[in-house]
Amino acid sequence: MQPLPQPAAQPVSGHLQRWSGDPVALLHEGAALSQQTGKVFALKLGLPAVVGFSPEWNRRLLTDLATFRSAGSFSAVVPYLAGGVILTDAGHGERRGAVNPPFGRRSMESLRERIRAALRQEQPPTTFDALAWADRAVLRMLNAAYFSSDLDATLLHAFLAPLRSAFPVPAIPRPVLFARMNRALDALAHRRLTGGGDDLLFHLARWPGGVREARISLAAGHDTTTHTLAWAAWHLAGHPEWFHQGGLKPVIRETLRLYPPGWMGSRRLSRPLDWQGHTVPKGALALYSPYLSARDPDLWDAPGAFRPERWERPPPAWAYLPFGGGERLCLGMHLANLMLEEALTYLLEVAPGLRALRGDPTPRPGVTLGPAGPLVVGSG
Ligand code: HEM
Repeated sequence: MQPLPQPAAQPVSGHLQRWSGDPVALLHEGAALSQQTGKVFALKLGLPAVVGFSPEWNRRLLTDLATFRSAGSFSAVVPYLAGGVILTDAGHGERRGAVNPPFGRRSMESLRERIRAALRQEQPPTTFDALAWADRAVLRMLNAAYFSSDLDATLLHAFLAPLRSAFPVPAIPRPVLFARMNRALDALAHRRLTGGGDDLLFHLARWPGGVREARISLAAGHDTTTHTLAWAAWHLAGHPEWFHQGGLKPVIRETLRLYPPGWMGSRRLSRPLDWQGHTVPKGALALYSPYLSARDPDLWDAPGAFRPERWERPPPAWAYLPFGGGERLCLGMHLANLMLEEALTYLLEVAPGLRALRGDPTPRPGVTLGPAGPLVVGSG
């Protein structure tokens, strides 16, 4: 049996340098090498790592939680994401059961009006950078959904800003900033517990660890939604007919297919894995890539083209994973879709005749995938 294919590596550092420089190019190279041989390739990232992008690999990794663990995955390196349901292995299903209800599709309806009102606080000028606008809009929508807009907006902005910088900035511990944010959240949670309410914090604050889940999920939901909103606005600005033809859902789905902010999901193997005749050692990193799976030419027609009309048919199973899948499916999927729909509807309403003027939508990987930017659009 041949070893797993692997892209060109340095003798000592393996793929670490290429991973920190241009991981998307490295992924494309690995995908091309393994396209005909099972769509799994090896990387050396300080630890042995395997990356797979076939539907079978995705299904196995996302449903076999006993073998593919979250402890020790990439999220553990970023203090913003290192905790809560994201890093829970034992008892994950139970914890999700507790935290899921306020994030369910039906509960979202109670947040819709508040999110609409938050968007209306700022009207975009005639010409603006869609990325900067999306950033502010998502902060306001999250503040409305979680805290009825009662959290100090400057603190929320300052707390989340490092997440949008390139590595290693998001991985640097910030004890003072985190303590300030925790104090503000605890004070608001106390107000909800004594005075009542109907925002997300009101629901989360009622059980142990809930306020921390609020802080962590805010971080998971901020730049993911911002980047999707910016890319969707950019594409819609170039093609207003898409909105008139099919509404916003196919545009949002297609944006998330080509540019999944969660471009790379990581796990650690709790035991050796036999996969297609190869044995991957216990402790290895196991990665799935919503980015590669959604661009596989064996599964998608013209995968590099932005075509909302492809959503007239269902996607291939386990190949479209912008929100992950299985028990660890994104907690905020319905909230993200609500924010995206409301923000794009608002934009089309207040900026009629929106056009893409200049910019660079090339995906750039950080903690999440985002557009290189700026994405300058204009109306009128
Ligand atoms: C377009 C926006 C979003 C995208 C593309 C996205 C993507 C993802 C993906 C791919 C995963 C699975 C990661 C894995 O398998 O390792 C995930 C998990 C998660 N997301 Fe999102 N997300 C978005 C918005 C949000 C929002 C708004 C929240 C706020 C609640 C959120 C909270 C979470 C949490 C807490 C998890 C971990 C779930 C678990 O492990 O049980 N996300 N997200």
